[in-house]
Parts: sequence; structure tokens; C-alpha cells
Amino acid sequence: MADQNRAIGPSVLSADFLNLGAQLDELAAAGADYLHFDVMDGRFVPNISIGLPVLEAIRAGSTLPIDTHLMIVEPDNWVETFATAGSDRITVHAEATPHLHRVIQAIAAAGATPSVAINPATPLAAIEEILDDVGQILVMTVNPGFGGQSFIESCLDKISRLREMVERTNPSCVIQVDGGIAESTIGLAAAAGATSFVAGTAVFDGPGTLAEKIAALRSA
Ligand code: DX5
Ligand code: ZN
Repeated sequence: MADQNRAIGPSVLSADFLNLGAQLDELAAAGADYLHFDVMDGRFVPNISIGLPVLEAIRAGSTLPIDTHLMIVEPDNWVETFATAGSDRITVHAEATPHLHRVIQAIAAAGATPSVAINPATPLAAIEEILDDVGQILVMTVNPGFGGQSFIESCLDKISRLREMVERTNPSCVIQVDGGIAESTIGLAAAAGATSFVAGTAVFDGPGTLAEKIAALRSA
């Protein structure tokens, strides 16, 4: 697949929150394709992160598309609010709702692109019946809840099988990966069939500018 079809989305969770405005400008100048915004509720995942006021500030402060990742229970109650706050794309977890089809329709009705995430232990069967209704599937490559974890290599086979499924029925569907994406792992995920890469630690931590680290990921 051509490089121009591949996207890198820095995860705001790893940003320097005291310098968020400057970092948003730097990410745009560095060629980030979108911003990944992680929402954690302390129930679906064992951590609490950032929410609506920060999302609204980012919406006002950046023209990059915002890709909101809801790691929350009962996402049904929240997708419209997160769309109104400025999300261009909204990901809900298949494990978080018994009414996945309904939530996907609600995201689309609110004007955002619907996306569904599955945890490392969740089989592709969980999303098979809704594959044609979404613009993106997120294959988690760590157990969600924290930045800075190690990439789980056994997820690569699932990505390959999802690539085959997507090619059959919804070839424009984006396959996104999130968790442990670094110079050493991004090529593996791309070879398996992922086209969109979330990176927190690899973009914001360690030496070098944000632009240098995004460029390094792109060439890897
Ligand atoms: C994990 C979050 C990720 C996280 C990625 O639960 O969904 O988006 O910020 O961070 P890294 O790239 O450090 O694994
Ligand atoms: Zn995420």
C-alpha cells in the first residue's frame, strides 16, 4: 500500500499538558495526520484520563482531525456529546456495549466517522457483522489503559486476518493500531495490513523534536 495512504496520529495523552498549545502547532507543522484523543473512565479501563473540556480546547486550537478513542462503559450515552465537542472520528469498544450497531448509527448521525476497537483478547468475530458500517477498525496492540506499554506481537496475525476481511467487503475501511507503536514495531503492523498508527511515547518522549520522531516513525 502506498505511503500516502498511511497515517500517523500522535496520542495527546502523552503530550506536555503545560505546553499543549505549542505542541499542537508543532504536530501540525511536523505533518501529523490527525490527533488521537484517549478518554478513560476508571471503569472500562483501570485509569482516568482527559475529557470534554480538553477536547474542546484542542478543537479550538488545532485544525487537525480529532480521532477520539472512548475507553468508557456505556459509550451509547456519550457519543453525541463527544461529536459535538469536536471529534471527527469516534471509536467505541466492542466490549463496552451490547448495542454496538446502535452506537455506530448514533456516531454517524452525529456527523462523525464511526470506528470500533477490539482489545487484544477479543476475536474478529466481535466486529464481523458491523464491518460494513464503520470507517475504521482499531486493533488494540496493548491492553488499553496506559501509554508506554509494550506492543503485543500476537496481535499481528489478527491484523492480517482483518486485512483479508476488509478487502472482501469494505476495502476503504481504515485499520488502525494503538499501543506500543515505535520504530521497532510500526513496520510489523504495516506489513500485517494496518494503515493508521497511533503513537504516544514514540512521538512525545525521548530525545529529538516532535517532527524528527514523526519522520522516524514514517520511514520505519
Ligand atoms: C492506551 C491508549 C493509547 C496510548 C498509546 O490505552 O489507547 O492511545 O496513548 O500510547 P503508546 O504509544 O505510548 O503505547
Ligand atoms: Zn488510544
